[in-house]
Amino acid sequence: MTAPGSARETRLMRDRVETPSGLVLRRWTGGDAASVLAAFADPLIRTQSVTPVDTPSAAERRIAQRTARWADGSAFAFAVVDGADTVLGQVSVGPVDPRHANGWVSYWTTPPARGRGTASRSCRALAHWAFTDLGLFRLELGHRVDNPASCKVARSAGFPVEGLERQKLTYDGARYDVETHARLATDPEPAAG
Ligand SMILES: CC(C)(COP(=O)(O)OP(=O)(O)OC[C@H]1O[C@@H](n2cnc3c(N)ncnc32)[C@H](O)[C@@H]1OP(=O)(O)O)[C@@H](O)C(=O)NCCC(=O)NCCS
Repeated sequence: MTAPGSARETRLMRDRVETPSGLVLRRWTGGDAASVLAAFADPLIRTQSVTPVDTPSAAERRIAQRTARWADGSAFAFAVVDGADTVLGQVSVGPVDPRHANGWVSYWTTPPARGRGTASRSCRALAHWAFTDLGLFRLELGHRVDNPASCKVARSAGFPVEGLERQKLTYDGARYDVETHARLATDPEPAAG
């Protein structure tokens, strides 16, 4: 594809990334529907989606949507799997703003995969991929201030804090401040956790 950051340059865009820790980032497939459905039974993951993912066909639609966005270049979602191809989570970059070579990063991990560096390592691998394969320059993310685990993931993946967006999001009638982080292609690679 033509990378967002450099109109004339053609890059090799991998759709599978193997990490030194054994975690693998690969594209979602139709066969992952049961894993997606199970993941969205978790209330913390459920709040990530505006559209409910509570039936097998809703999970299939979600995967199909991810596939379509990858094809049109607007967003790139990877399943995070272990060596046995068990789904542990998702890391994604999108929407992508090709004009400015920016992208929005998000992540979730399944409850059994949490607390052992899955999100931090995967987010680090995603950032490297987004800078090298996709040619982006700036990656942004944000988390509610009552989500300290997400803050740790961001810092550990090399995204320092940039600011605070006051009362940005509403959940169940309550408004939440959002802390923003970003990482640039020119920032140093974070130390392996
Ligand atoms: C946030 C989330 C992705 C973290 O995934 P994970 O795989 O457990 O992340 P990691 O193991 O890489 O790191 C989590 C860190 O947060 C810490 N942590 C976990 N819960 C915490 C809490 N309640 N308070 C403070 N720190 C916490 C862990 O100890 C770990 O710290 P360490 O790096 O110093 O060991 C996962 O909890 C999740 O999917 N949450 C629901 C969806 C979500 O919130 N996504 C982010 C939206 S912005």
